[in-house]
Amino acid sequence: MKTKLTAAMLILFVIAAYSFRFADYAHKAGAFKYVGVTSCVGACHKTDAQGKQLDIWQNSKHSNAYKVLLTPEADKIAQDKGFTTPAAETPACLKCHVLGKDIDPSELEASFNKEDGVQCETCHGPGSEYKKLSIMKDKEKSKENGLIVHDDKAAFCTGCHNSESPTFKGFNYDEMWSKIAHNKPQ
Ligand code: HEC
Ligand code: HEC
Ligand code: HEC
Repeated sequence: MKTKLTAAMLILFVIAAYSFRFADYAHKAGAFKYVGVTSCVGACHKTDAQGKQLDIWQNSKHSNAYKVLLTPEADKIAQDKGFTTPAAETPACLKCHVLGKDIDPSELEASFNKEDGVQCETCHGPGSEYKKLSIMKDKEKSKENGLIVHDDKAAFCTGCHNSESPTFKGFNYDEMWSKIAHNKPQ
């Protein structure tokens, strides 16, 4: 009897501990929102001194990744793969071409625009908190506030640049990074 009671209490304790941890995690995850490319990016990441990240991104194919799904070529690719919906409405295509598909709408601020395809926050994480200048100045503080810094950059890229892409042509990190390089000038 006593052991049964202890076992039941132990199980209850484990459940309580887990739901507490989950609630804590969910709260943290929801605390950082996606603001999109418009808000502060234009002001902070445009000048030569900063490294012109905005222009570089706008002129890269990433900014066009959603719009390319609206082309007849994209629909043809989707059809050949056996999908019956247009490419821009096919979750298996949106997956790599658009940020926001799997994000709770409450985490998207009004300025966020999914038509911006593969955007700053696809790679750098939701910016509502780290965009503040006082935080952005400090890399460690930024990370605590949602900034994602990839240790293994090639592995991050090949999360999308892989043979699951119907048009995959291989991926060489150095070559591909050089096409979108936007480091801050030293
Ligand atoms: C496809 C993914 C991707 C997109 C899209 C992207 N970035 Fe980056 N960005 C990176 C990676 C990876 C690095 C780190 C490169 C390195 O250190 O070698 C980086 C570096 C930076 C840096 C330099 C940080 C430093 O300490 O030098 C800034 C600033 C930056 N990105 C801002 C932006 C902004 C603003 C946008 C949108 C206009 C953007 N990025 C879009 C992946 C991306
Ligand atoms: C969320 C998915 C995703 C991630 C992560 C991603 N990409 Fe891309 N990338 C795409 C898509 C989709 C396209 C094609 C867009 C188009 O053609 O309109 C693309 C296109 C490109 C192109 C243009 C290729 C060409 O033919 O000119 C380059 C260069 C590139 N990516 C580099 C990178 C690098 C470097 C990284 C990692 C730092 C990266 N990408 C991470 C989805 C991604
Ligand atoms: C695993 C991620 C991924 C998925 C899933 C994906 N794409 Fe892409 N797509 C990419 C990347 C990365 C590129 C850049 C070229 C490449 O594949 O290296 C790209 C490029 C494209 C292009 C530009 C043409 C070209 O040759 O560069 C079109 C059109 C396209 N994809 C349509 C689709 C359609 C339609 C689907 C769904 C049936 C789809 N993609 C699913 C990642 C993906």
